[in-house]
Amino acid sequence: MSDNGLSDTSIPLAFDAGSHSIRFGFCNDSTPGSDIPAVVGGMLNGTESDAHTNRIRESLTYRVDTNTLCVPREGMELISIMDKGLIQDWDAFENLMEYAYSSCLFTNPSFQPVIFTESPMNTEKNREKLMELLFEKFNVPAMMLCKNAAAAAFSCGFQTGIVIDSGATHTTAIPVYEGYVMTNAIVSSPMGGDFILNKCEQHFSENNIDVIPHYLIANKQPVNAKEIPIWSRKNTVPNVTNSWHNYMCKSVVEDFQHTVLEVADRDAILSNLPTCHYEFPNGYNQEFGSERFKIPESLFNSTNENGDLTSLSGIVHLCAEMCNNTIIDELYANIIVTGGNSLIKGFPQRLHSEIAADFRNTPRVKLTAPIDSSIRRFGSWIGGALLATTAELNHLWFSSNDYYENGADEISHNYRVTTD
Ligand SMILES: Nc1ncnc2c1ncn2[C@@H]1O[C@H](COP(=O)(O)OP(=O)(O)OP(=O)(O)O)[C@@H](O)[C@H]1O
Ligand SMILES: [Mg+2]
Repeated sequence: MSDNGLSDTSIPLAFDAGSHSIRFGFCNDSTPGSDIPAVVGGMLNGTESDAHTNRIRESLTYRVDTNTLCVPREGMELISIMDKGLIQDWDAFENLMEYAYSSCLFTNPSFQPVIFTESPMNTEKNREKLMELLFEKFNVPAMMLCKNAAAAAFSCGFQTGIVIDSGATHTTAIPVYEGYVMTNAIVSSPMGGDFILNKCEQHFSENNIDVIPHYLIANKQPVNAKEIPIWSRKNTVPNVTNSWHNYMCKSVVEDFQHTVLEVADRDAILSNLPTCHYEFPNGYNQEFGSERFKIPESLFNSTNENGDLTSLSGIVHLCAEMCNNTIIDELYANIIVTGGNSLIKGFPQRLHSEIAADFRNTPRVKLTAPIDSSIRRFGSWIGGALLATTAELNHLWFSSNDYYENGADEISHNYRVTTD
């Protein structure tokens, strides 16, 4: 083993934790081997759960990953591991890590160095807690940290640019210069996937469309479009918690969101655009027309109903304005789109035309959005895996010796590829 804690043969692992899901896998793979929900089920053994009470934490049993999470269980509460892109429930996170090593990666944590991507808004305290967990509990030999936005830019071959990361809880414009994230110029908006999900729910309730999750449906009969659905309710369902039921409803709306929604061109007449047929789990079905374009329109419309949210092109401009004048042209020429919410069809094209429409002549606006959906969605993970396997960045590995000798605050969380 070399003195930076890396054995010559061990393949690093990359972890990219988001509010919607946590992605991880071996860095020599092209995409993360696992992508599991960033929520876990918490059950108080045998009795009704009160997962949110710290007092009884010790006796909680956690249920991790989609297969076990989606089984209706009496008293299972849903616990979010993340809050606004930062780890908030460390107990649940530790449990998820144990599950990741034992049931997905099938490796001993002390064998592989790990790279963790972190939110650009991560705090010193959070970073220290993560290092304490990794070095003291999991005994990892070495770790590297990297801002998720810088990693996403790196995955597209850029070290300078503005990264637009549209995730579940927010969309953020993050300026990156030669690998460094300029934290003072980050602009964030709550308009991410969850915002769109709420708009879908609002549309359903205004149009009397019931969202019945799969677990409640015993059988259904085919009905014509817009007819009252004919279905029967399962009578063997245990007494599930509200948090779990809401999560199941949310997954139905998410499916609609991913399948039906589309972003129109700037000047399109929405009523002339093609419709999309969708059937809900209880059999209710209809063609969705202009509403499937109207719902995501709010992302690009600066005059949204409350007037308190800036459009996504607006946050790009705000972010660029806060950067040094000498690099603005370079930033506009390197806009990188990443994150799951950007997968709504037409999102990158519309964002590009909105940003470009605000300029008459200069600067040149160039936007990069990987066409392959997994590359766009997993940009931070892919970039992190690339950084961890780039020989020029070997100096960024922080070994367990470094940790015990120098303490957590010595770790670097920005990268710079040395060219000399
Ligand atoms: N094909 C798709 N079409 C539209 N939206 C999608 C698609 N796939 C995923 N999403 C949405 O993208 C969001 C998740 O994106 P992502 O994985 O980037 O978030 P995250 O990094 O976990 O969360 P955050 O960045 O908020 O911490 C969810 O709201 C999800 O519904
Ligand atoms: Mg994210």
